[in-house]
Amino acid sequence: MARRADFSLTASPGSLLAVAANASGARILDEDGRSYIDACGGAMVMSLGHCHPRLVEVVQRQVAQLSFTYRFSFRNGPMLELAEELRSISPLDDTWCFFNSSGSESVESAIQLALRYWQLRGAPAKTDLISRWPSFHGSTLGALSLSGSKWRGFYEPLLGKYPVAPVPNADIRRRRAPAEETAWAIAELEDEIARRGAQNVAAVVIEPITGASGAAIAPPPGYIAELRRVCDRHDLLLVFDETITAFGRTGEWFAACHWPEATPDIITFAKGVTSGIVPFSGVLVSGPVAELFEQSPEGFPYGHTFSGYPLGCAVAAEAIRVIRDEGLVAESRRKGARLRAGLEQLAAASPQIGDVRGLGLLQGIELVQDRETLAPVPGAASRLVAACRERGLMIYACATPLGATTIEAVMLAPPLTIADAELDEVVAILGDALAATA
Ligand SMILES: Cc1ncc(COP(=O)(O)O)c(C=O)c1O
Repeated sequence: MARRADFSLTASPGSLLAVAANASGARILDEDGRSYIDACGGAMVMSLGHCHPRLVEVVQRQVAQLSFTYRFSFRNGPMLELAEELRSISPLDDTWCFFNSSGSESVESAIQLALRYWQLRGAPAKTDLISRWPSFHGSTLGALSLSGSKWRGFYEPLLGKYPVAPVPNADIRRRRAPAEETAWAIAELEDEIARRGAQNVAAVVIEPITGASGAAIAPPPGYIAELRRVCDRHDLLLVFDETITAFGRTGEWFAACHWPEATPDIITFAKGVTSGIVPFSGVLVSGPVAELFEQSPEGFPYGHTFSGYPLGCAVAAEAIRVIRDEGLVAESRRKGARLRAGLEQLAAASPQIGDVRGLGLLQGIELVQDRETLAPVPGAASRLVAACRERGLMIYACATPLGATTIEAVMLAPPLTIADAELDEVVAILGDALAATA
């Protein structure tokens, strides 16, 4: 088919991508009739696959009834329903909610909530934030300021200098035992708090399992509990950015559910909450934090035009019901174990794989020269992604600056609804692409 004229700005000038025509479940068809298995949901978005019939149906119904109202003028039924659904699955005590349309917007809301919380508590000096490297929290200026990522690049002059605490397990070349890695990462965090003065710090913001920067790095045992203790000791809010990890992705409703003894104060979520049907995101706020806002005359006045719009809320509430009705949190655990076993088998046969990591259906592999040095191979992630694409498989490249080097990894986040046979196909194609790029 002739190439269409294309005047949209892209991140890959000079290399035209295929034109997607339609999609269903875990498959995308392009306009030339080529089929792709979507094993990363674009950017970890498609929790229920493409065009889940129940989500399509709810959009059609809601859009014909009430698609938009403004939160300063009205409450709306879907928003109230969604908050109830979220309260029933949230790991926080007495959850309150606020809604937006993108992961970045909700990270901005979390920053504003944290700052305003300390003002309301009578500690207005607590304005600093601590985040980690590597990480990605979004592309708006506040969220990018938190991000320990190559995407800061061009905009560094405008950004706050937040990401300084290390992500434990990020550098596989250190080969530390898990307890040692936890102790080191926590000591580094404590040093940073001391340097800034706890009286100046509002919050620590982390991805509990990293996503776009780092590719599914899960924390070592004890780290999250220790992090919670540090935040309590120094009077800091703990914020989990669960833009990618919520709604069953890691085998629990929220990644925070993996550590019930150490829940955060604020959780952001986005992406999988509506499985790509409409833009949507939100923030969960624990009761003790929310109550201060409820008692103040301004409440929480910040947000965006589409905050809590009925169409987005209706789709998100239905997505939660689908995940519950289809038992998809448990399926994420089961299918995640199947995928992991397949990846481990590939790793056993291929010295290019230096690490397999992740939880549930969020899995990453790090690409290396060989197992002895574990040295990164520049460009390996994008070459593997391209080889997979040629073979009809979509996966996500994560090239992440870490110290003097750049780690090369790819991530898989297939729909929780993917069939077992499709998962096996993902592993088979990936194996073939690995062999072709060795
Ligand atoms: C952890 C995390 N936070 C925030 C964002 C930003 O989300 P959005 O692109 O929807 O603004 C992303 C996007 O990849 C993310 O992975």
